[in-house]
Amino acid sequence: VTEVIVVGSQAEAGELVARSILRLIGKKPDAVLGLATGSTPLPVYHALAGLLAANPVDVSRVRGFALDEYVGLAPENPQSYRSIITREVVEPLGLNPALIQVPNGAEATAEHAGEEYERAIVAAGGIDVQLLGIGTDGHIGFNEPGSSFESLTRVKTLTRQTREDNARFFPSPADVPVHCVTQGLGTIRRARRLLLLAFGEGKARAVAGAVEGPVTASNPASAIQLHPKAAVILDEAAASQLANLDYYRFVWDNKPPWQQL
Ligand code: GLP
Repeated sequence: VTEVIVVGSQAEAGELVARSILRLIGKKPDAVLGLATGSTPLPVYHALAGLLAANPVDVSRVRGFALDEYVGLAPENPQSYRSIITREVVEPLGLNPALIQVPNGAEATAEHAGEEYERAIVAAGGIDVQLLGIGTDGHIGFNEPGSSFESLTRVKTLTRQTREDNARFFPSPADVPVHCVTQGLGTIRRARRLLLLAFGEGKARAVAGAVEGPVTASNPASAIQLHPKAAVILDEAAASQLANLDYYRFVWDNKPPWQQL
């Protein structure tokens, strides 16, 4: 089942998800987090940093795996997902950088980066909770439309739309890399828990397709329908095209206390 939670603001979404992650770390101090980049998960990282500052928890053993990385950007390039994860997650939360992995985007070894990453995830015992954003075309990680639901970490080619969406972070649109290494939909589906966040009207169509549309490789995020423990946390705008919104609100308002996010 996909649980749909509509909140009033991005900050509220961040707080909700951050509390859930902290409960996990409380139970399992070496929890394995699946980390997402993009603007969407930032409120989660901000909330986590705030909660940790107010109420310190030992996060020194927390492990993490990023979803994806561009091919051909040096790790120290500020737009590499390695840099972004360091800047937005590892440093503000005080995680041990040695325990946080990002796919290796080096061009020369890209062919084998996927297998290597899969081995590392398996060796860590799998991902406990995977944070996800969603692209306007329904991609999760960088699994563009047409990605196999069984796919594992591998090199993918970005769509024109994704490159345009991400061009704002680069000096010119031509500087957006063409290839990436991304966890596959199969990798994501193996995570024990999925938390997908989406904000803004631009995501509403992709979200409605993911949650209520047919399970189809044309909307990669619809893979969440196959996951036994997936939750989608949305603001009003991102939820605006859902047909069963009233029901989702009713479910949330009547959530048994033992069934926390
Ligand atoms: C990128 C990332 C995705 C992310 C998506 C949406 O392409 N690879 O993981 O979900 O963009 O980004 P944003 O959250 O900034 O809208």
